[in-house]
Amino acid sequence: MKQASENVSAEPASANFRGYQQAHPSAIDEEIARVGPGTPCGEYMRRFWHPIYLTSELGDLPRAIKILGEELVVFRYGGDKVGLVHKYCPHRRASLEYGRCEDNGIRCCYHGWLFAADGEILETPGEAEDAEPARMVRERTRLGAYPVHEYNGIVFAYMGPIDKMPPFPVYDIFLIEDMVNRPYKAPYNCNWVQVLDAIMDPVHTSFLHSQNSHPQFSEGMAELGELKFYERHENQFLGSSTRRVGDNAWVRVNELVLPNFTQAGSAFAADGTEPRYFGRSCFTRWVVPVDDEHSIVYAWANFGDRGDPHQYNTQEGCELIEQGERFERSPEEKQRRPADSEAVEGMGPISTHKGENLMPTDRGISLYRRRVRRQIRDLATEGKEPPQPLSAGSHAVRTYGQDTVLHLPPQNGIDDRAYLMKIGEQVMDMEFRHEASSDATRDSSIIAELKEIEVNGVSLEPAKARGERRQA
Ligand code: FES
Ligand SMILES: [Fe+2]
Repeated sequence: MKQASENVSAEPASANFRGYQQAHPSAIDEEIARVGPGTPCGEYMRRFWHPIYLTSELGDLPRAIKILGEELVVFRYGGDKVGLVHKYCPHRRASLEYGRCEDNGIRCCYHGWLFAADGEILETPGEAEDAEPARMVRERTRLGAYPVHEYNGIVFAYMGPIDKMPPFPVYDIFLIEDMVNRPYKAPYNCNWVQVLDAIMDPVHTSFLHSQNSHPQFSEGMAELGELKFYERHENQFLGSSTRRVGDNAWVRVNELVLPNFTQAGSAFAADGTEPRYFGRSCFTRWVVPVDDEHSIVYAWANFGDRGDPHQYNTQEGCELIEQGERFERSPEEKQRRPADSEAVEGMGPISTHKGENLMPTDRGISLYRRRVRRQIRDLATEGKEPPQPLSAGSHAVRTYGQDTVLHLPPQNGIDDRAYLMKIGEQVMDMEFRHEASSDATRDSSIIAELKEIEVNGVSLEPAKARGERRQA
């Protein structure tokens, strides 16, 4: 018979095991996670234009969609026009998903009420035209409807108060000649904030997309580089990473324009080995809340000399640009080669920010979340409208998502990390200076000055001191 002391009692456990103490889930961040009608963040999000559908997927049938927690129907009418309305018919709640697209709007399948794109009830065919109840309902009742704007293959909508509707923002990236913009979409099964966070997270590019399984984007992203974060105009956030590749310095910039517009450098066109001057983002992309626990990305993938190589202009190429891997994969493939969807959906439907431990490399995330929270509160408590993407006069909105690769070898006797940081700062400062240049001259001026930096080199002295000396 065994002694009680033999092999049956567990070793005394160290107090380091803290599973029990930490088993209680943290509360979610309600203020920025909830996007439905009447929530503070939902109100904030309803002050901006958002992409809601791909033109190519909208045929002669209405489509049921959900955006910002609202059940909606998007449809074509009159041939080429697009409408966006609440899903349920105001007569007896039939779904307009089963409605009929007509010349003047959408007709409910149940009793044939016809609605214009602005929600006006045009016909109630089951009732005598001049009967009082029918006349009254046509006068007093409307189907909920939203303004839409179809642009370059994507349908955008404004879902806020009509008297607060901002102009549709035109971004600089739309104006680049010879750039091919291919619309795509990518659904994520989680809250919008955790999808958005990744754009301000340069470390994940080096680890998730490079070191963890295999290089999912171009080689060279495995190294982290010298990081710097910028906040501009209260709604634009930039994260620059300047890497050393042989004798080259590679300045890559990710960006976010609040609340949900994102750009980055290229996915495959730049690896730091070849010169590149203000190459632009692989995508122009919005992270749109479907509801609190689902999001959808609508975007253009950008191809050409200043975008990604044309060979990626395919459905698969867009998925690789979006997240480094195809979306439809086996569970094992996802475990062996996780990409953004695994990283962010794996956090659960709404990640608990109180359970995080943010690091200095998460500074971009802290900055933007703080600003979003402030703008949500300003709107909720003081009625202060959030800033719109800045169009300087008639100019397109200036963005900075880019790659620049300059021939700037390490300098003898100078710490190369400090040198790279300075190169990154000088490139960014110069690009900021050109913010007010005209649409026609801005890019060529930036590119010319980048080439000058390459010739003249970068001084480690503070930029202001150099400027003062030049003027003296
Ligand atoms: S429910 Fe739509 S017309 Fe009756
Ligand atoms: Fe990513």
